[in-house]
Amino acid sequence: MTADFLVIGAGIAGLSFALRAARHGSVTVITKGDAYESNTAWAQGGIASVLDDTQRDSGDTVEHHIADTLDAGAGLCKETAVRAIIGEGEAAIRGLTGHGASFDRDNGHFELGKEGGHSHRRILHAKDTTGREIARALIEAAHKTPNITLLEHHFAIDLITTSKLGAVAEDRVLGAYVLDRKTGEVRVFRSDRVVLAAGGCGKVYLYTTNPDSATGDGVALGWRAGASVANMEFIQFHPTCFYNPAASGPEARSFLVSEAVRGEGGVLINSKGEDFTINSDPRGSLAPRDIVARAIDRELKRTAAPCVYLDVTHKPKGFMRERFPYIHGSLLKYGLDCESQPIPVVPAAHYQCGGVLTDVNGKTTVRGLFAVGEAACTGLHGANRLASNSLLEGAVVARRALDEMMRLYPPEKSAPNPPPIPEWEHGDVAEPDELVVIYHNWDEIRRLMWDYVSIVRTDNRLRRAAARLMNLKKEVREFYWGHRVTADILELRNLVSAATLIVECALRRKESRGLHFTLDHPEPEERYRSDTVIRKF
Ligand code: SIN
Repeated sequence: MTADFLVIGAGIAGLSFALRAARHGSVTVITKGDAYESNTAWAQGGIASVLDDTQRDSGDTVEHHIADTLDAGAGLCKETAVRAIIGEGEAAIRGLTGHGASFDRDNGHFELGKEGGHSHRRILHAKDTTGREIARALIEAAHKTPNITLLEHHFAIDLITTSKLGAVAEDRVLGAYVLDRKTGEVRVFRSDRVVLAAGGCGKVYLYTTNPDSATGDGVALGWRAGASVANMEFIQFHPTCFYNPAASGPEARSFLVSEAVRGEGGVLINSKGEDFTINSDPRGSLAPRDIVARAIDRELKRTAAPCVYLDVTHKPKGFMRERFPYIHGSLLKYGLDCESQPIPVVPAAHYQCGGVLTDVNGKTTVRGLFAVGEAACTGLHGANRLASNSLLEGAVVARRALDEMMRLYPPEKSAPNPPPIPEWEHGDVAEPDELVVIYHNWDEIRRLMWDYVSIVRTDNRLRRAAARLMNLKKEVREFYWGHRVTADILELRNLVSAATLIVECALRRKESRGLHFTLDHPEPEERYRSDTVIRKF
């Protein structure tokens, strides 16, 4: 398989890139599951942007959006990246609507929602399934574009680079080894232009709002290819994941109750009906997520209660059904009518703010390799992401990445005489017959990350996590090299890498900032006000 552009991941970032790249050459997009299994498709709240025709009445401006983003980022946002990405929001939104994405309107104008940390209403949404609507439009557009080959159930095992093939001169990307999950075959996909858009790593934690596919594939692939990785300690915990000990199945365990519900007046209360978040921040339930998640964590520890509650019972009858039909209907399926009962909620891992280090164009430290979306760390989010900024980042940086790639590595200037790439060699054992090892290790990683590396950390717990992860990594490596690869083994391998990167970055940050809070160093310190950047070799 050879293509001018190889895109790994089919969420908003990967497909936005592919749809523009298709004007310049052949594009292969691979995704390890079906195309709708992305964090994008699961996004409820929306996409934040200040548009010309929305700011007139609201008093909002791009400058306000920039200020809110910088405020949430706790001193670590790269202001140039923030300005570029937020400043180009309108063009990206027009790009999405041009592909057929439809956002809710009121009297012909976009209807705007509000979420934590935003000073104004500026969230475009499609009820409470915004990501699904964006995914639908982009997937349909990709299917209609002749230059795009969209391959589902194709899992990128590893990137191929000149240095991995033994060349010492400039390191550049050559493609990827890819597992076809349906046939079990591994093939070389050749391309001098590769985009990592494989999303985040929520599944590293026991409780997460992410789909099962969020196993850190993007950051793990970039890391193993030698790209620099940054700020993995900043994992965002969403304050309101539905808590239902009786529910089973991944969907129930990771069911998100959108922050937009608080934007429309939902209030977090404890079992006595007290609004406890107000003690942490005057913005109460609508403070930025790091503050709200820590307030909940404190309340749970203080009261030993299993959950807190999100109360919307004061809203007019029918409001939830109309504005949040997906949330309202899903809760009804679990036996809860949120119009008359408060919703039990707990925080859960939600978003990876760090990732493969890039500039504002998605360019990584490896030639020809770009990273976009949650897999990347562009500097937009800093130490904490402002809600609904990530779909925007995916769409904007995808556009910039294509422009930069065409400037630096246009297809007509592909490197002459590309080196031969060896075929994939399967491990000795035909089929792993010890699935229990995979499931046990998977479970152990997620539990230890939840217990030792979640909302509140300490040096001791981080060191303990690092030691356990080292053993797990060794075991996974032996398993990986000894057996024929399967998606389960590949996900476990990426999961343990992502977990290790989080712990390694967290151990280096001896302060509390944004999403990284440690009891041993509870205050921010000026000397740590920089990115945590690490490289494999
Ligand atoms: C939500 O709907 O609360 C999620 C929005 C986001 O994480 O940006």
